[in-house]
Amino acid sequence: MSQFVVLISGNGSTLQALIDATQTGALPKDCLRGVVSNIGTAYGLERAKAAHIPCHVLSHADFLTRESFDVALAESIFQLCPDDPIVVLAGFMRILSPGFVTTMQGRIVNIHPALLPAYKGLHTYERALEAGETMHGTTVHMVDASLDGGPILAQARVPIQSNDTPETLKTRVQEKERALYPKVLALICDNRLQLQNPPLFDGEVIPASGLVLGTV
Ligand code: GRF
Repeated sequence: MSQFVVLISGNGSTLQALIDATQTGALPKDCLRGVVSNIGTAYGLERAKAAHIPCHVLSHADFLTRESFDVALAESIFQLCPDDPIVVLAGFMRILSPGFVTTMQGRIVNIHPALLPAYKGLHTYERALEAGETMHGTTVHMVDASLDGGPILAQARVPIQSNDTPETLKTRVQEKERALYPKVLALICDNRLQLQNPPLFDGEVIPASGLVLGTV
């Protein structure tokens, strides 16, 4: 069974969806081995504690360089989960250094609120609405050293409505995210999804736009 360490910076609603999935059986009970936050006041830490998941706080402000923070981050992850941890980014608002990405050898996944490769970076809802898009969504992808880059694992699409605001669109996209991320992690746990480049699903190379999973 794969084991996950979840990195957060804030509210932790994505983390909560993963915790809930371990409680409904959608994910194996003990697969969430720990949570690391770079922000000591992140509400996600309360969610982790309530679920009895070990937490570490590692403030980036205590480190002089991105690289030195990332070395400590990797140490923290291996303390929480010594055996082949998979790093699950869930609202972690830090760019990871190439050194960290190499250390984790293709074992980092992220969820980004856009249909990558479109709308990398921040403020995806505002940008999609301003551009007059008719479709938005969310992407689970492997992480490489570039911003929101790396092979796509799965996507869920969300049609944009004419009266959408960034908030209403965000609400619908996050609903999809909370269903999609546990599904992808469950496939990784079951060894059906192999984190390699290109990633494989049941032994087959998955499409460049990723899997579309059920009704998500
Ligand atoms: C999600 O929309 C995800 O796409 C992005 O962070 C948001 C969730 O933040 N990476 P949180 O889990 O509520 O902290």
